[in-house]
Amino acid sequence: MSGAAGAAGALAVGTPAMGRAQEDGAPQTSAGSAPLAYQERTRAQRMRWWRDGRFGMFIHFGLYSVIGHQEWVLESEGIPIPDYEKLAKHFAPKPGAARQWARLAKRAGQKYIVLTTKHHEGFCLWDTKLTDYNAVRQGPGRDLVREFVEAVRAEGLRVGFYYSLMDWHHPDGASCATDPAARARFVAYTHGLIRELLTNYGTIDILWYDVTWPLTPEQWRAEEMNKMVFDLQPDIIVNNRNGLAGDFSTPEHKVAADERAWETCETMNLGWGYQRNDDEWKSAKRIVNDLTLCVQQGGNYLLNIGPDAAGDVPTESVERLEQVGEWLRTNGASIYGAEGRAADAFGNYTNFTKAGNKLYVHVYFWPSRTPAAEWLDFYRPGTVIAIGGVRSKVVAARLLKTGQPVKFTQNGVSLRLTGLPDEAPDSPTTVIEIECDGPAFVDHHLIRPEWQRYKVGVAV
Ligand code: GLC
Repeated sequence: MSGAAGAAGALAVGTPAMGRAQEDGAPQTSAGSAPLAYQERTRAQRMRWWRDGRFGMFIHFGLYSVIGHQEWVLESEGIPIPDYEKLAKHFAPKPGAARQWARLAKRAGQKYIVLTTKHHEGFCLWDTKLTDYNAVRQGPGRDLVREFVEAVRAEGLRVGFYYSLMDWHHPDGASCATDPAARARFVAYTHGLIRELLTNYGTIDILWYDVTWPLTPEQWRAEEMNKMVFDLQPDIIVNNRNGLAGDFSTPEHKVAADERAWETCETMNLGWGYQRNDDEWKSAKRIVNDLTLCVQQGGNYLLNIGPDAAGDVPTESVERLEQVGEWLRTNGASIYGAEGRAADAFGNYTNFTKAGNKLYVHVYFWPSRTPAAEWLDFYRPGTVIAIGGVRSKVVAARLLKTGQPVKFTQNGVSLRLTGLPDEAPDSPTTVIEIECDGPAFVDHHLIRPEWQRYKVGVAV
């Protein structure tokens, strides 16, 4: 399975196929199973903070962080379980690591954090009564989930728990597929662990399931699972990776708009769990663009960090998150509470988001004076940013960074922002706030009938 993923090459992030099966959010619900009425009825209200927040931090942290070969290392390298288990004794994250993560997320402008409470390796980061394979009885001697929850709340952020249904360590984790007695034990264990997580740590805002292998939703008793979740945490939101539709979809490593709520999860380098020598870092510009694209298409963005065994976050991640946070401090109006769907807009150097009457033009390649300005009036004066198909009357434009007004001209075809400086005023992208006299609207398709206004190109 992981070999196939490796051979495919395209799955460059090293996430094996088994883990990717559900990523597009297509619920694998059996025919006839209906979502809980409670869940449906309360969804809009439960999800409001999440929709406005737009940007979250994902944390992959577990025994695999000690090896530093990503979170699938147990399977991808075929480590004997008794050998791997020794890591539990030597896993010693430093006190205060969770506070470091939460403060970083706050500085980055992220509004929620989702931690791997148990990844596929089966090691539980909390004080569970259901297995000794946990952070309190092993090396750390501390409840890392409690530390996390307290740290996140101290920063005023929302708390999310990632939980892997698939479990390579539990003796019934694979045999449950064929052995009914093993299945009964393992499913009870799974429900029990989730119950603990949602009972012992106060209000939890997100439950982020992952990987249903090897059982069907019926075998997991997934509906009963979600019912328990909502009974314990009435305001929680759940994703779609326990085989049911949940409240939101979870496209992985791609921005993929959906009719329903969705959240792209993405890594900053190639892996989720710590990979010591991975140097394929995405730039801060790429991260800001992905965040913007998610908002433009109506989704959220969950950006991962993979701390090392001590809990330290790779410097490259810290630097990038701080750059993004710096950018959000002046450009947050274009992201938080913003959307984009009403616009069928594209640009070769721009993205677009909107909020009410305001259109935000995100310029990621600054189009300094083109040589064509020598002959084309269109590209004068100064540097010009042009947007085709703006269908709302523009009343004002300004740079979000400085508040400086921007001159403009508008007709049915194009909105031209003129007299701009030759250097980009902000980094990694510059946002121009355009105020319209009604809801902001851009649609390039509406330009086509306008071309005839010029009545050129027809031989008479
Ligand atoms: C996949 C992978 C897993 C990772 C997750 C993040 O399911 O199996 O390692 O935690 O995606 O979305």
